[in-house]
Amino acid sequence: NIPEFVKIVEVGPRDGLQNEKHIIPTAIKVELIKLLVSSGLPVVEATSFVSPKWVPQLADGKDVMEAIRNLKGARFPVLTPNLKGFEAAVSAGAKEVAIFASASESFSKSNINCSIEDSLIRYRGVVLAAKELSIPVRGYISCVVGCPVEGNVSPSQVAYVVRELYDMGCSEISLGDTIGVGTPGTVIPMLEAVTDVVPIDKLAVHFHDTYGQALSNILISLQMGIATVDSSISGLGGCPYAKGASGNVSTEDVVYMLNGLGVRTDVDLQKLILAGEYICKHLGRSSGSKTAVALSKV
Ligand code: HMG
Ligand code: MG
Repeated sequence: NIPEFVKIVEVGPRDGLQNEKHIIPTAIKVELIKLLVSSGLPVVEATSFVSPKWVPQLADGKDVMEAIRNLKGARFPVLTPNLKGFEAAVSAGAKEVAIFASASESFSKSNINCSIEDSLIRYRGVVLAAKELSIPVRGYISCVVGCPVEGNVSPSQVAYVVRELYDMGCSEISLGDTIGVGTPGTVIPMLEAVTDVVPIDKLAVHFHDTYGQALSNILISLQMGIATVDSSISGLGGCPYAKGASGNVSTEDVVYMLNGLGVRTDVDLQKLILAGEYICKHLGRSSGSKTAVALSKV
């Protein structure tokens, strides 16, 4: 019972570039977004409106949004950690935003400098302001199976935060294995707990591939009925505040697997590969996508 269509949420320009050592010129980010859109991706997370002291890599969020203001063909959500970020995002033309909570207390503190409960209070304010402007809010939950500090995270704790985000009005909730430690052995019980409290069509999965488990975890998520998958071009990415976090699962590999399963995505793999080549060339790095490497050899 795998879904016939899977919506891919491309997070490369945000999750992918937030962890780069060097600051990437705005023009490169904008060209990458254009290439991603031309491959047919329906959602491209464009940037963040977070503190530039915390994430200098994305301090040009306003300029990125300005440059893609008239770009058609995809939605461009941005991360907003508080009302200040929300207001800046809206002024810059954002039509969708995402808030990001954690299932682990320690990670909440290290990523957004507050407790889970305080973050939920803050996010209720953001969701309320967004509702007034009819702006959809995606809710992320980090550390859904493991935390860099606390180790295992219990499914019931994840379900609690999911429920809070759902009740405050998030239109979609993305379950993040921030440090990529999950296997189907831990992901299945987590998804079972979460699907007990919110409808499955509101859920997305967000796997980092640190231990090479992302595609397996995506496959079992699809088998459980999840039809929204986050991924990052060429497997770029990682949270700068999660020690040991490596890249997200690569979009190329996800599309290759979904093509093989006969699942529609509306994404053109060849064009996607061009987008990956573009950013890898700029970063001076080989692709983190096995599919991209395989196809560029032939
Ligand atoms: P704080 O220091 O507690 O914030 O940081 P504050 O309210 O005390 O403000 C401190 C300073 O930051 C002030 O400036 C504020 O104006 C400024 P100062 O007076 O010192 O000059 N400030 C801002 N500036 C611009 N935009 C804003 C903003 N807010 C405050 N929105 C804060 C708290 C949440 C701001 C900070 O911790 C932060 O920005 N954190 C973001 C960290 C981040 O972006 N992490 C990566 C994204 S999450 C992720 O990757 C996981 C995910 O992919 C899913 C997964 O993989 O699991 C989503
Ligand atoms: Mg992430």
